[in-house]
Amino acid sequence: MRLAGKVALITGAASGMGRATAGLFAEHGARVMVADMLEPEGALVVAEIAAAGGEAIFQPLDVAEEPQWEAALAAVLARWGRLDVLVQYAGISGSNTNNLFDTALWDRIMAVNARGSFLGVKYAVQQMRAQGGGGSIVNISSISGNVGQKGIHCAYNASKAAVRLITKSVATQEGAAGIRLNTVHPGLLPPMRTSGITADPVTRAKMMQHVPLGRDGRVEEVANAVLFLASDEASYITGSEVHVDGGYLAN
Ligand SMILES: NC(=O)c1ccc[n+]([C@@H]2O[C@H](COP(=O)([O-])OP(=O)(O)OC[C@H]3O[C@@H](n4cnc5c(N)ncnc54)[C@H](O)[C@@H]3O)[C@@H](O)[C@H]2O)c1
Repeated sequence: MRLAGKVALITGAASGMGRATAGLFAEHGARVMVADMLEPEGALVVAEIAAAGGEAIFQPLDVAEEPQWEAALAAVLARWGRLDVLVQYAGISGSNTNNLFDTALWDRIMAVNARGSFLGVKYAVQQMRAQGGGGSIVNISSISGNVGQKGIHCAYNASKAAVRLITKSVATQEGAAGIRLNTVHPGLLPPMRTSGITADPVTRAKMMQHVPLGRDGRVEEVANAVLFLASDEASYITGSEVHVDGGYLAN
């Protein structure tokens, strides 16, 4: 029970790594807001957590829309009266286009991945300060936030680099309030719903040549790193980044 008594809001929790993290957090005693645009899938995650004896609620949320963040925060406070942990998984891929200079795609990727993460940090910090400080924010960047990759729209790399630096910047400002912010950088995990060429087996095999551990990561392996950073075990860690990438960034 590494999150006993804590209230956690997890975006992108209807699918993939966010879903795995929501389940793991509930197992460790957290009360979890499953926030996502996908309502039926999110409701299923809540039902799974309830069936396992945990506590969760679903909140519809488009992270790019500021009023929806206000509504999500109001809902978490109405239900549990506080917010201790924010984890931001909500994101869209940059590997589903043939036009690597598509301006509309730049705008949407930046709106969801970068602006969305900024808004989440803004509302979580505001609430954590209002309740007297403390709290942990874990933002999901990527190996793509550290290095470029062929075939991926540069907006994806730029947005994930923004996530990395939003996190470090606010970590320096909020340390005095005891609010910790860190990033987790997954490598080759099961493809995102919005993946294009990075879901293609031939492309993945080429990328795999750069993974020292020689295999895909598992969603649970990312969830475990996020659990650690969210918990009080990571009490002296802020502004840091954890690469859960099988060694990709060590090359
Ligand atoms: N899968 C990978 O290989 C990989 C690698 C590195 C980083 N990441 C990052 O990890 C995070 C999770 O990826 P995943 O593999 O679980 O992907 P996924 O596609 O399975 O899940 C992403 C979730 O985000 C939600 N989402 C998308 N846009 C949203 C919005 N505007 N508002 C709210 N929710 C929204 C989706 O509905 C979905 O439930 C993403 O930020 C992604 O960029 C993924």
